[in-house]
Amino acid sequence: MKIMQALDAAAARIRSDFPDPPDMGVVLGSGLGSFAERIEQAFSIPFSEIPGFPRTSVSGHAGRLLLGRLRGKKLAILQGRAHFYEGNTMDAVVFPVRVLCHLGVKTLILTNAAGGIRRGFVPGDLMVIRDHINFMGANPLRGANSSQLGPRFPDMSAVYESTLRLLALDILREMALPAHEGVYAAMSGPAYETPAEIKMLSVMGADAVGMSTVPEAMVARHMGVRVAGVSCITNLAAGIGTQALSHEEVKETASRVRENFEILLDRLVERAPLV
Ligand code: HPA
Repeated sequence: MKIMQALDAAAARIRSDFPDPPDMGVVLGSGLGSFAERIEQAFSIPFSEIPGFPRTSVSGHAGRLLLGRLRGKKLAILQGRAHFYEGNTMDAVVFPVRVLCHLGVKTLILTNAAGGIRRGFVPGDLMVIRDHINFMGANPLRGANSSQLGPRFPDMSAVYESTLRLLALDILREMALPAHEGVYAAMSGPAYETPAEIKMLSVMGADAVGMSTVPEAMVARHMGVRVAGVSCITNLAAGIGTQALSHEEVKETASRVRENFEILLDRLVERAPLV
C-alpha cells in the first residue's frame, strides 16, 4: 500500500473512536510509560488494532495509543514504540509517528532512555536534545518520497525546535535539576555499545546514546512538525562507568526518575505554544 493510503487507513481507524484531532503528540520511551496515566478522559487503542502499526515486543513498552487531554491540550500519546533492532523496517518504525503527524499534531515530544557519554552526567539526569547523530546505518526517508508528506531533501539543520528546548531547560532549572542539553547519537542496537564505540561517539560530539528517537524526529521534521526531545540518562555508557550495562538498570533508573520526568513533560505540554 502507498504511504498516503496507509496513513489514511490508520487515521480513519483512530478517528472512528476519537474524532477530535490532537494538537500534540508524545512518544514515551523505555520505562517512561506511566506519564500516560496523567491524561484526562483517556481513550486507548492497542497498536495491534490500528492498521499498519508495528508490534512492540520489548518489556517496558506497552504498545498502545492514548488520546485525551492534559493542561488544556489535546494529546495523542504513543505509549511504547517499535524499534529498528526488533527487526522492523524503518518504514514500520516511523509509521506511528507519521500517523500522529497525519492526524494533525503540530508539536511532537519524543522521549527515550539513553546512556550518558558526557563527563559529569549521572544516571537519573534528564537531557534536552539539542541535535542528533544518525548512526543507525539507515535513513527513514530513503525510498520513494511522497511530496504530500514533505520535500525529497528535507533540511535537518534545526530538528529540535529552539523555543521548546529553551522551555524545557527553563523547567529543569525551576525544578532545581541540572539543565543539560546535548547531542543524542542513535545506534541500531540491540547490543549496547563497546567502550571503543562510546569513545568514538564522544570524539564525534555525542553526549548521550540510544537506539530510537532519531528516525521519528526526522520524519516529523520532514512533515513540518515541531519536535522536542528529552533523554532520561538511565546509565553511564559503556566504558564511562565501571558497571556492566543491562536493560534492568535502564528500567530501574527510568522508574526512579519517573516523578521528575513526568513533571517536566507536564509543564512542557502546558507551556508549549500551539502553532
Ligand atoms: N546505549 C544504548 N541505548 C541505551 C543505553 C545505552 O547505554 N541506555 C539506554 N538505552
